[in-house]
Amino acid sequence: MTTKPSDILNIAVIGLGRWGPNHVRNFSNLSGSQVVAAADIEAKNRDRIQANFGVETVDDYRKILDRPEVDAVVVCTPTATHFEIVKAALEAGKHVLCEKPLTHKADDAWELVRLAADKKRQLMTGHIFLFNPGIEYLEKAVQEGLAGPLYYINAIRTNLGPFRSDVNAAWDLASHDLYIFNHLLKMRPSWVAATGGSYLRNPVEDIVFLTLQYPNGVMGHIHVSWLDPKKVRALTVVGENKMITWDEFANPGPVVIYDRSVVRDPVYDTFGEFQLLTKEGDLLIPRIPSQEPMSRQAKYFLEACRNPERPIDRGSPDQAAEVVQILEAASQSLENRGAKVDLTFNSP
Ligand SMILES: NC(=O)c1ccc[n+]([C@@H]2O[C@H](COP(=O)([O-])OP(=O)(O)OC[C@H]3O[C@@H](n4cnc5c(N)ncnc54)[C@H](O)[C@@H]3O)[C@@H](O)[C@H]2O)c1
Repeated sequence: MTTKPSDILNIAVIGLGRWGPNHVRNFSNLSGSQVVAAADIEAKNRDRIQANFGVETVDDYRKILDRPEVDAVVVCTPTATHFEIVKAALEAGKHVLCEKPLTHKADDAWELVRLAADKKRQLMTGHIFLFNPGIEYLEKAVQEGLAGPLYYINAIRTNLGPFRSDVNAAWDLASHDLYIFNHLLKMRPSWVAATGGSYLRNPVEDIVFLTLQYPNGVMGHIHVSWLDPKKVRALTVVGENKMITWDEFANPGPVVIYDRSVVRDPVYDTFGEFQLLTKEGDLLIPRIPSQEPMSRQAKYFLEACRNPERPIDRGSPDQAAEVVQILEAASQSLENRGAKVDLTFNSP
C-alpha cells in the first residue's frame, strides 16, 4: 500500500494508448497528486509507462478498483468501453475523470450521471478545450456581449486521423465543439442535422458536417474530418457587432477580434453608399497566456475530488451526457440522409 500526505490524491490511469500517457505525465507532475497505478490490456503500452514513469501497471483495470488507496481514476480507453469501466469505478467509490465522449449511448451517460450523484463521487469528462486559455477568452467575450447578439458559430476540426473503429469522426472530434457551443451559449440546441461520408472504412464516417439550431436563433455548424492533411482547430463566432475567431495554431495569437459588421436596416441611394454599409474597424489580437490545458484540467479535477459536493462546470457530467444525446441524434440524422432530428434533453 502507498503511503502519502493526506492532501495528495492517489490517481490510477486506465488506458495507456495515445492519450493516456499524457494523463500519467500530468498527474505525476502536479504537487497535489501521484500516479500509483495504471492499467492497459496491451503489454507494450504497460511496459512503456513502467519504463518512462516508474508507475506500477496491471493488465486488468478491476485490480486497480479493488485498491482502497486509489482515490480517483482516469478512464482513457476507447469510447465503447467507457460505460463499463466508469460504472465499475463509481461503484468502487472512486472519483472519475473520463475522456470524451462520456459514453456512446445517451441512456448509459445519464445512468452514470445518476450513479455519481448517488455515490457522492465526482464524475468529470475530459472536454479539455474548456481549459484552453483562448477558448476561455472567447467564452468571456461572448458572455460580456462583445460580439453583440450572435448570428452563428462555425467550428472546423480536421487532421489525418487518428482513425478509430468504435466511433465516427463526429463522436471523436465534434464532441469537443458541441460541448464548447453549449457552454458558450449556455443553452442546448433544438435540433441537429448531419451529413457525412465513409471513405476509408465503411460504415464509420470519416467526415461529418453537422448543423445545429439553438432556441435563441443562433445557428451552429461543425466540420470534422480524419481525411484532411491540414490540422485545423478553429472556431468563428459571428455577431451583430463583431466577429471573434479562435485558431489554436495561429500566429501571432489564437484569438482575433474583428470590429467589422453589417450595418442593419440600411438606407442608400447609390452603389457607392451601399458598399459603405458595412462597419469597418480594427482587428485586435489580445494577449492570451500560454498554459497547458491538460495540466489545468488535472488541477481542476483534483480540486473537485477534494470537494465532492462542488458542482463541476467544465466537463460537467450533465453537459457531457447532453453532448452524447446530440451525437446520438446526429447519428440518426446521418442514417436518414441529413434529416433534422429534434432534441429534447433527459434530466438526470
Ligand atoms: N481530450 C482529448 O483531446 C483527447 C485526445 C485524444 C483522445 N481522447 C480520448 O481518449 C480516449 C482514448 O483515446 P486514444 O487515442 O488514447 O486511444 P488508443 O486506442 O490509442 O488507446 C486506448 C488504450 O486503451 C486500452 N484499452 C482498451 N480496452 C481496455 C480495457 N478494457 N482496459 C484497459 N485498457 C484498455 C488499449 O489497449 C489502448 O492502449 C478516447 O475516448 C478518446 O476520445 C481525448
